[in-house]
Amino acid sequence: MICFNEQMQSFFLHSRSSTYVMKVIENGQLLHLYWGDRIPECDLSYIHLFYNRSFSPVLYDASELCYSLDTLSAEYPAFGYGDYHTPAFTIQAPNGSRICDLRYTGHMITPGKPDIQGLPHLRADENEADTLALFLRDDLLDLEVTLFYTVFKDLDVISRYAVIKNRSSQELSLLQAASCCLEFDHSDFQLIDLHGSQCRERQAERTPLHHGIHSIESRRGASGHQLSPFAAFARPDTGEQHGEVYGISLIYSGNFRISAEVDQFDRLRVQAGINPFNFRWALGSGDSFTTPEAIMVRSTAGLNGMSQNFHALYRQHLSPSRYTKAPRPIVINSWEASYFDFDEEKLKALIASCEGLGIDTFVLDDGWFGHRDNDTSSLGDWVVNTKKLPNGLSGIIEACKRHHMEFGLWFEPEMVSPDSDLYRRHPDWCIHAPGRIPSQSRNQLVLDLSRQEVQDFMAEAVSSILREYDIRYVKWDMNRNITDLGSEGLPADRQAELSHRYILGLYAVLEHLTTAFPHVLFEGCSGGGGRFDFGMLYYMPQTWTSDNSDAVDRLKIQYGTSYLFPPAAMAAHVSACPNHQTGRMTPFETRGNVALGFCFGYELNPLHLSPEETEAIKRQTARYKEFEPLMLEGRFYRLCSPFLGNECCWQQVSSDGSLSIVLYARVLATCNPPVPRIQLAGLLPNALYRIDELDLILPGEVLMNVGFSIPWLWGDFSTMLFTLRKYEGLPEKQTQKE
Ligand code: GLA
Repeated sequence: MICFNEQMQSFFLHSRSSTYVMKVIENGQLLHLYWGDRIPECDLSYIHLFYNRSFSPVLYDASELCYSLDTLSAEYPAFGYGDYHTPAFTIQAPNGSRICDLRYTGHMITPGKPDIQGLPHLRADENEADTLALFLRDDLLDLEVTLFYTVFKDLDVISRYAVIKNRSSQELSLLQAASCCLEFDHSDFQLIDLHGSQCRERQAERTPLHHGIHSIESRRGASGHQLSPFAAFARPDTGEQHGEVYGISLIYSGNFRISAEVDQFDRLRVQAGINPFNFRWALGSGDSFTTPEAIMVRSTAGLNGMSQNFHALYRQHLSPSRYTKAPRPIVINSWEASYFDFDEEKLKALIASCEGLGIDTFVLDDGWFGHRDNDTSSLGDWVVNTKKLPNGLSGIIEACKRHHMEFGLWFEPEMVSPDSDLYRRHPDWCIHAPGRIPSQSRNQLVLDLSRQEVQDFMAEAVSSILREYDIRYVKWDMNRNITDLGSEGLPADRQAELSHRYILGLYAVLEHLTTAFPHVLFEGCSGGGGRFDFGMLYYMPQTWTSDNSDAVDRLKIQYGTSYLFPPAAMAAHVSACPNHQTGRMTPFETRGNVALGFCFGYELNPLHLSPEETEAIKRQTARYKEFEPLMLEGRFYRLCSPFLGNECCWQQVSSDGSLSIVLYARVLATCNPPVPRIQLAGLLPNALYRIDELDLILPGEVLMNVGFSIPWLWGDFSTMLFTLRKYEGLPEKQTQKE
């Protein structure tokens, strides 16, 4: 799996079907040589031909006079010594110098994977992965950098992070430390990113690479709606099912940057890590700094192959939550049903109306605490509003029990309203720059989680409610981003640590809460999917994918999100029509079909539904329960992209290949359209499958190569959900139902 060849001074990291090669050159510098299809161990030094390049300074101690870091592929490039690309690492000495020269001093290969203290991380035992620790050192600075690489045996994944340790007696300033750096000796790739906005998250975008630097980043204090911590580098001919692609993501929820730099010789350097923007970390004598973990995936099975590696990591190696693989409750959430306008009687009527519909958990959203009747007050005052709920939460919880449901609750613990007792008591607890009025967003300020007393308050505010009441589900929201950075808890020379310290504080609170309340399913949310990243998914196995519950918009949002995250991480609910975000009218069936296969639920008031719609809920919840194992353990395939046209199609296949569901959606109706044919994926080639809805039985390899035709659909926003079951009988003569 991970081998060091002494003679070649090379490291070979073999994953399921690829090999990653690094080499220590004579002067101790570490070069990256290869990441591609699996190869035998071989000295790859021959690939470097040392042309004499003008304006590319050469290394003073290399035997080869044309040896320039400007033209070679460094594994973890620091600033200086002729490398003009963006460094992966920048540190400032007390004398102001930022030059650093990292040389190899040794390494260690161990089975399994060490935990990363204080940061969410992947987990693997000795049968699942091996880890390489590569020790680098700058003698002048007395600085040690350890690069960690974990290779996962059954996947095509390498995860990486770095630990920087100041062994000198002086304070050093860390200005930048990428989690990973990747070099390619060509840039024959297209870049895929997931951009968006609130209610329009993770729109897939594919663009050619160009010379210079392209950067995918957040400066908002959260991963954000705008660009997900993700980039894929796909060959121009790579499609959903075939072709080579490299995917990068981070297990981090704060300011990040993934950059792609194409240089004068068309080489590509990719880096991912904490955004160096407004970042500086004082590294005192003996201090260490650990970067977040980066995930690097390589697939030759197209974009679906890449996604399935990310999805498998989530399932097998990410969240310690007992819910990751366990059935999820079907929830009904009060937000779109009543917003802030509720009292105990109204909620009880809503709860009673869920009896017999197959819904498992009622979630009380915003508005249950302080005197919060709208979004202008009370964040921070996590005390039940007894005007609205005279029996505390107990009245509602008892009603849930009577009607055979569990109870869940909404919190937004990281925030404070200026109109709150908390703010009046501790005005200094919010993030703000000295002498300046902090900007509000949704009438609220952000608590300064870099401070221990604020973390303690927050953990206790949530814990006391979770201790007092029988709560099985928490929706953890964050409804603004951070600006006007400043902390009263940090000295002037540490103010640029605030963004990262905020995230470390958040992780500490989440570690505490999820350990103390393991029976609670936490769902992440930030105005929908504004903090949807592997960092939050470590603590909270699912995220509210978007505040946009419109089924048509959800096609793109869920399709785009699936590049990185599996359906088991995405919450998708059926809501009322006209849709509250778009005003669109879609068939009830379409809303169900688009949400089925994801963490399912409702965002409406059953009292306002027709008897037919209420009956439809019963059918939908029963279908969800039947198909839930596909979501939890199965594979997800994107078949036809809504970003490219009027149709969308995705497929889920059970882990043993015996059951599959296929969603086909056509957005706008056209008169006299061509007949769409869908080729499936992931089936057992030699097995027979029966498609229930078409009364058709065909071998897997026929369904994957020839496909099946979509019957006539009527009207805009039409969908069909097809169910394929492995068929054990004899093949029959086929005629497809129209
Ligand atoms: C955010 C969430 C919504 C809802 C509201 C409540 O916008 O994304 O689902 O919880 O907050 O204020």
